[in-house]
Amino acid sequence: MSWLMSAVYDRMTRESNKACLDQWRAELLRDLSGAVLEAGAGTGATLPYYPKTVTRLVLCEPDPHMRRKLQAKCDAAGATHVEISDASLEALPAAPASLDAVVCSLVLCSVPDQQAALKEIQRVLKPGGKLAFLEHVAADGKPSRLKWQRRIEPVWKQLTGNCHLTRRTEAAITAAGFNIERIERESIRKVPPIVRPSIRGIARKTG
Ligand SMILES: C[S@@+](CC[C@H](N)C(=O)[O-])C[C@H]1O[C@@H](n2cnc3c(N)ncnc32)[C@H](O)[C@@H]1O
Repeated sequence: MSWLMSAVYDRMTRESNKACLDQWRAELLRDLSGAVLEAGAGTGATLPYYPKTVTRLVLCEPDPHMRRKLQAKCDAAGATHVEISDASLEALPAAPASLDAVVCSLVLCSVPDQQAALKEIQRVLKPGGKLAFLEHVAADGKPSRLKWQRRIEPVWKQLTGNCHLTRRTEAAITAAGFNIERIERESIRKVPPIVRPSIRGIARKTG
């Protein structure tokens, strides 16, 4: 299944990338600098949007099929300065308080335990370091859509590598001790209604 997902992922997301996600990724990454790690980098959708102010970039992707595509994209872009790792969000390859930013783009929906993942991000960030996030979430405020998300989620998770439709990721980020500095809530365009509600923004590690 993960082979199939990696084979179709870029095609499947092409229209929504063009319609909004590419612009959102560019805006999200624009002000990052220093040492940055991206978790669940997939096939490298964010790669073109890292600014030159990022001096060290580690792209983590645990799925071997996705990682092969990621490597190919980095090679094609001549991104020789980028390090690629097979690490998952449960154990990031970074020393405590060593990173200026961690990027999560459409990945906190798939991790087995959001709080454990967010605690791991806290561990590797410097005090005041940034979590840049772009995630699809539960359709709070739209009861009928939320009902459909709940109905479809058990099958959806099986087909999409554990992607959950009803996660309350904003509350999880706050509960993990981050201070949300900026957040936008907007519908992802050119995707099925159950994956449209999204949040994106910057949260900071306090202390
Ligand atoms: C929907 S894709 C998003 C890819 C890319 N970040 C993007 O914006 O298009 C989710 C990615 O998260 C990865 N993933 C799933 N579980 C993970 C985990 N526990 N830790 C890190 N990455 C994970 C998957 O292998 C997949 O590549």
